[in-house]
Amino acid sequence: MFTLFEILTFNRLNGGSNIKILGLVGSPNINGNTAKLINAILDGAAENGAEKVIYNLASLNIKSCDACCRCQESGCCHIGDDMQELYREIKTADAVVLGSPVYMWQMTGQTKLLIDRLTAFLNPNFSSRLDNKKLILVFSQGSSDRDAFKPYFEYTAGLLYYLGFDVLETIVAAGTDKLEVSSRPGLLEKSRELGKLISASHLSKPEFRRTESSLTPIL
Ligand SMILES: Cc1cc2nc3c(=O)[nH]c(=O)nc-3n(C[C@H](O)[C@H](O)[C@H](O)COP(=O)(O)O)c2cc1C
Repeated sequence: MFTLFEILTFNRLNGGSNIKILGLVGSPNINGNTAKLINAILDGAAENGAEKVIYNLASLNIKSCDACCRCQESGCCHIGDDMQELYREIKTADAVVLGSPVYMWQMTGQTKLLIDRLTAFLNPNFSSRLDNKKLILVFSQGSSDRDAFKPYFEYTAGLLYYLGFDVLETIVAAGTDKLEVSSRPGLLEKSRELGKLISASHLSKPEFRRTESSLTPIL
């Protein structure tokens, strides 16, 4: 097992990583809590040499799935909207950071629109066309009870696993109604460190993967 220090030293000595990390922000707040966490992860990855790309889903034109189901055969969605760019970005990214605030106990509508359209990555037998793409899941919630939506976060991680993502970590910022993410340097620093870790591309999956739980709440 490598320590974080060893990982960072290795990467520095080897000129950093050449990986691309894609951030997808599912909040209508362009610079809100969710965006700040995702940006911190991306900044950490960039410090380690990764290329970072970020989109705010609410600023894009993403239509709802129209249930034509032709994508399962063809592998591509026929709807000519901004999802076409996101399909390309997801395919070419080495790691994806997907985040949403909790709205009414769930992800936002913008995030769900994206998730529904990811059905284009499924084959007719429901296996995935994605090859265990690394993903970090980010949630922020007003409630300070960090266990309030834990089953939903685990359920969502399971759904993303089914879609072909290797969910490495779920970061939860609880209690944002009282204390915004911008006032939590410890949480932002841990997010940056996670970004550095995910950009350590030389690590093979079993060493990179965390222990049994995909849910690691961080204050
Ligand atoms: C329409 C709406 C619904 C919300 N529903 C919940 C909820 O069910 N549970 C909760 O803890 N917080 C809820 N919140 C609070 C947000 O999750 C919280 O403020 C979050 O940190 C916002 O993230 P952002 O700054 O990235 O937009 C809700 C906020 C809005 C605007």
